[in-house]
Amino acid sequence: MEFDERIISSSFQEEDEKIEYSLRPKFLAEYIGQSGVKEHIGVYIKAAKLRGEALDHVLLYGPPGLGKTTLASIISNEMGGKLSVTSGPAITHSRDLAAILSNINEGDILFIDEIHRLNASVEEILYPAMEDFAYDIVIGKGPGARSIRMDLPKFTLVGATTRLGLLTSPLRDRFGIKEQLELYSPEDLKEIIVRSAGILGVEITEDGALEIASRSRGTPRVANRLLKRVRDFAQVKGSGLIDCETAMRGLDMLGVDELGLDSVDRRMLEAMIVKFRGRPVGLDTIAASTGEDATTIEDVYEPYLMQLGFIARTPRGRILLPGAYEHMGYPVPAEQLNDQQSFFNK
Ligand SMILES: Nc1ncnc2c1ncn2[C@@H]1O[C@H](COP(=O)(O)OP(=O)(O)OP(=O)(O)O)[C@@H](O)[C@H]1O
Ligand SMILES: [Mg+2]
Repeated sequence: MEFDERIISSSFQEEDEKIEYSLRPKFLAEYIGQSGVKEHIGVYIKAAKLRGEALDHVLLYGPPGLGKTTLASIISNEMGGKLSVTSGPAITHSRDLAAILSNINEGDILFIDEIHRLNASVEEILYPAMEDFAYDIVIGKGPGARSIRMDLPKFTLVGATTRLGLLTSPLRDRFGIKEQLELYSPEDLKEIIVRSAGILGVEITEDGALEIASRSRGTPRVANRLLKRVRDFAQVKGSGLIDCETAMRGLDMLGVDELGLDSVDRRMLEAMIVKFRGRPVGLDTIAASTGEDATTIEDVYEPYLMQLGFIARTPRGRILLPGAYEHMGYPVPAEQLNDQQSFFNK
């Protein structure tokens, strides 16, 4: 189903992008949840400002839609530096990076999204830029070639990735600050939804917000999207007010179940139960049986299913846990229960 997949997918439409921008908190105090990350970043920003220095380079990692881009823009607002935004795949050649770096001033923030996708030659230029605020230019060719070092203003690189494991270790090591974003609790998501509803001028009750929150798979982007869809539903089918019942009916209509699972999740769990009988199965096999690509399954779907305790990663592949059978309405095979107990007792 096109409809609900779009709500969960990590890519977004143009209209969504505009709304997403308006919903984005501008300062740390408005950033809801992620209390650890928030506290750390707050301290580092304060200290850097007291010393009158640029903030150390920051690496943010975690599943899509949890607020990495938002945090980067908050950092630039709090530090008072200009924000430049780019992404790993957008910098194809070292001269692209040179052009970006030559436009940067002291205290500016350079945000590189999907930083794990930088190519090796670009990455090599980034090392001295991060470490020594220097840029090496090679002049001439062959034996007569020499390299000139140019100074760069002291800037802050904010890198974001959904895949910490794909970052090379020299790059990872050059970030002084590394913060992991985690899936949000329903209470935090409820607060985000109430805030977004205020900005969008939508009337919503506390329990209506909590209902949407508990089906938002720990992800603010999903929460904001579900809010917009339920708002449409409430306007067409009711008075426009989102209360618990309207939220439930709207979300059911969207095919989002009470835990926030959509048709892709259900296809995936169903295949693992029926076709593979809960046995360890590889990511590519799962992807093939759901029609989603493996990266989307791994980045978007799996983290939440793992948090729910429905699946687990083992060295032999992904396995199903008893909760998944129960949620999908299947009995847990006895032989599988024993298998898993022996696996976890090892
Ligand atoms: N802590 C938060 N408080 C309030 N709103 C938030 C928070 N985090 C994220 N959001 C909202 O969620 C939306 C998505 O956040 P953002 O674009 O920063 O995610 P992301 O981690 O950069 O995702 P991706 O990895 O896909 O780039 C934003 O529009 C913002 O409104
Ligand atoms: Mg982003």
